[in-house]
Amino acid sequence: MGNIQLFPVQGSTLAPEVDHLLYFLLAVSAFFTVLIFCAIFYLAIRYRRRAANELPEAGHTGYTLEILWSVIPFGIAMVMFTWGASVFFNAARPPADSIQIYVVGKQWMWKLEHMEGRREINELHIPVGRPVRLTMTSEDVIHSFFVPAFRTKQDVVPGRYSTVWFQATKPGKYHLFCAEYCGTNHSAMIGWVYAMEPADYENWLSGGMAEGSLADNGKKLFESLACVNCHKPDNTGRCPNLQGVFGSTVHLTGGATVKADEAYVRESILYPEAKIVAGYEPVMPTFQGIVTEDQILQLIEYVRSLAPKPGATAAPSSPAAAETKTSPGAAPAKR
Ligand code: CUA
Repeated sequence: MGNIQLFPVQGSTLAPEVDHLLYFLLAVSAFFTVLIFCAIFYLAIRYRRRAANELPEAGHTGYTLEILWSVIPFGIAMVMFTWGASVFFNAARPPADSIQIYVVGKQWMWKLEHMEGRREINELHIPVGRPVRLTMTSEDVIHSFFVPAFRTKQDVVPGRYSTVWFQATKPGKYHLFCAEYCGTNHSAMIGWVYAMEPADYENWLSGGMAEGSLADNGKKLFESLACVNCHKPDNTGRCPNLQGVFGSTVHLTGGATVKADEAYVRESILYPEAKIVAGYEPVMPTFQGIVTEDQILQLIEYVRSLAPKPGATAAPSSPAAAETKTSPGAAPAKR
């Protein structure tokens, strides 16, 4: 075979799982292909028409055979289903301690931002042995983030966040592709993922701190866009206090609730009237066309940074933040 590789290298914890399932599917397919071909030839010869006026015997139903060829394939299909579902759920659920990295796709490049502030284009540096969670969106059309060595491929869609996670298992340089036709230079929308030893990664990460972390830049935006004038940290503003909001359950006008995640914060910035927090007026203007996708990510990180740290008590300015989950009346205390 020379240099032609049948499979990409297994570069992530997910890769062997996906490959083992694929081998199983291939083996089952090969077994039945051979079985059916042999049966066709055997039966065609064994029961061929021998005389021009030959008539077939009256058949009888073989119940045992019919039950067997129904029950056995059903069992095999259920094995495929449960096995596939377990690999899928594993691939779809990032571990809680994942490193968070943001991805913005645009014609025709990948822009990647680390929480600590390092930004890259068409390159992604990650440490081995730690789960990495990507939160991805697009500035224009649908792209797809594809790293064959990690057996990971996820659509990157304008107007929403999709996530994918992986844990690299060995240091190396892996191809990154766009796997969704996105225009003239789709085939050039490629890059590299560099999986590094954790110490090397920390070194690399500290090489670009000058720009400030995502959350710091988000805070600056929050002030320069005057968000801070209404979203006051002491509950006296015309808009909700954002301390401790991220990750909590927010009660809305009309009685519905929503989990304050990335998508909710993004929607609230671009479509402020879509979901009004109970007790507040729809006074916030939209920021469509004012903030870029990159800046929205910075704002999200700033809001996330206001969330209570796990295990710590809520910020002094919002002692009720943690409790508002269960008491709808507590949120708009000021009004
Ligand atoms: Cu982006 Cu294809």
